[in-house]
Amino acid sequence: MNPAPNVILVGPMGAGKTCIGRRLAERFGLEFVDADQAIVDDVGSAIPAIFENVGEAGFRAHEKRVLARLLEGGGQLVSTGGGAVLDADNRHRIRQRGFVVWLRVGVDAQLQRLQRDKSRPLLQREDREQALHDMAALRDPLYREVADLIVDTDPYSPAEATAQLVVRL
Ligand code: S3P
Repeated sequence: MNPAPNVILVGPMGAGKTCIGRRLAERFGLEFVDADQAIVDDVGSAIPAIFENVGEAGFRAHEKRVLARLLEGGGQLVSTGGGAVLDADNRHRIRQRGFVVWLRVGVDAQLQRLQRDKSRPLLQREDREQALHDMAALRDPLYREVADLIVDTDPYSPAEATAQLVVRL
């Protein structure tokens, strides 16, 4: 495996970052760290409540502070939130502090995987499909910018995607 101190997963909602991340961490003996969960623990409220209280900009400020702290560490499998790459400092830190895997997923699979999830602050609108396309248009170049490796997860279960990654890391 690349000698970088962490493995960092980037990619949009529904790519399987948490599921695949947990499996990979176990496989490689790394500590699994979920950046969203770290934000929730740090702020003391759930993500929808953070968006409600301080808006997206406030959430991004928490995300930036918590991610910077997490990435000071090593030996971790870090699953980042889908929007972490929007910030240039975050992208710089992500690149510096780990071997970066972009878990890629198409909008159709995202819609299917997120079907029953009504809690996502950025998907509280009628046209979820358009929202996901808009996010992909903005973010895909940024995921590409930081990625050392790209893995498509659409056709795979978390177990299959993990197996693919194990041989490529
Ligand atoms: C977000 C993705 C979420 C969470 C927040 C914002 C985004 O994380 O950070 O709701 O901007 O795409 P996941 O990608 O882990 O779902």
